[in-house]
Amino acid sequence: NEGALWGARFASGPSPELAELSRSTHFDWDLALYDLAGSHAHAKALAAAGYLTADEEAAMHAGLDALARRVQDGSLRARPADEDVHGALEQALIAEVGPELGGKLRAGRSRNDQIATLVRMYLLDHARTIAREILRVVDALVAQAEAHPDAIMPGRTHLQHAQPVLLAHHLQAHAWPLVRDLERFRDWSVRASVSPYGGGALAGSTLGLDPQLVAGELGLARPAENSLDGTAARDVVAEFAFVAAMIGVDLSRLAEEIIIWNTREFGFVTLDDAYSTGSSIMPQKKNPDIAELARGKSGRLIGNLSGLMATLKGLPLAYNRDLQEDKEPVFDSVRTLELVLPAFAGMIATLRFHTERMAELAPQGFSLATDVAEWLVKRGVPFRDAHEISGALVKVCEQRGIELHEIDDATLTQISPHLDPAVREVLSVAGSVASRDGAGGTAPVRVAEQRSELVARAQAA
Ligand code: ARG
Repeated sequence: NEGALWGARFASGPSPELAELSRSTHFDWDLALYDLAGSHAHAKALAAAGYLTADEEAAMHAGLDALARRVQDGSLRARPADEDVHGALEQALIAEVGPELGGKLRAGRSRNDQIATLVRMYLLDHARTIAREILRVVDALVAQAEAHPDAIMPGRTHLQHAQPVLLAHHLQAHAWPLVRDLERFRDWSVRASVSPYGGGALAGSTLGLDPQLVAGELGLARPAENSLDGTAARDVVAEFAFVAAMIGVDLSRLAEEIIIWNTREFGFVTLDDAYSTGSSIMPQKKNPDIAELARGKSGRLIGNLSGLMATLKGLPLAYNRDLQEDKEPVFDSVRTLELVLPAFAGMIATLRFHTERMAELAPQGFSLATDVAEWLVKRGVPFRDAHEISGALVKVCEQRGIELHEIDDATLTQISPHLDPAVREVLSVAGSVASRDGAGGTAPVRVAEQRSELVARAQAA
């Protein structure tokens, strides 16, 4: 078992099947630069505690720097005999600085505390990248809202016409969950910014190394409070996977609407050619594949979260090899979002809205019936009666196949003496929207205020 991190007490090396099963370098090599950063910090702690002379420490840092350059230019890669990124890099270090010095770095640390630290560093970095991409989607939604300040669309509940709303209000309603996802990452990063390094395999170290020094060197806020928890906990990884899945679900709900809006029947939007795809057989097709892939990949993000939770369930303390299974799902969630978000932002930014089509549909389906009821309330009619009167009006219009504003004066008073022709003042979608000026409502003034608040929250996150 030449070059492995263990083996002295074994009579033979691992069987080829075990080596094959055990190997993780095909995914944990993504952590190589974090592993080297951990080694730099650990070398400082060893030197501070008197286990490396100043010359040895300098040679160690130089050797680790050389490895980092080779990882970056691709000339250093894991070999088939390497079990994991930690073993591969120790071998490379020994080749670089010699066995005497290279063999000193492993004192006081274990792959268990290393991996728990590295995965946090990786996720903290990628949370920042993903947050930047989410901001681009939010910006695209805000820009579209700004470009269409007065456009009115049918607002729906149960996918049925409900009440007219501003397109800007609707677009901003999709931006808020994404802003909360940014805030989720910010809250999560406080819990994630912890260094288990120095916890050793599970019980801590006898060598008097300074865990605060290591945490500081790695840009983490503080060392783990408990060495068992530090090496065994993966709630921080699971929470990241949850935020990733939530982002996926938030995008998917918007994607679903874009797919519906893009149908011939709705005709609310046209996708830019650069952000839609064709069909191999039907020459006329222009498909919303970005929205569909976003919707589809949200299933994968949810799967990564549930798979990880299933792995963690029932694991006794402290480290178990099962924990190696945390990385592939969460790395996949990172890659998935880093792929989907830029395409999604481009699709939103280039979407063309057909506001005349939305305006045409907005008053249909008796969407102003609530306005009639509330107009009656303002004239002193109890809402219970107002609801009945407005409902009776809808019934008559439905029977005659007309919209509310097409009703004649005589029929109005016949339905109820409260319904005099003045009610027509609320039978316009623009009037309806403008009058919903309570907090968080769809009136243009409220929507513009809300947009400033949205932008401020997005920037603060
Ligand atoms: N590759 C492992 C992981 O990803 C870390 C190595 C710990 N191995 C061990 N035998 N304790 O979790």
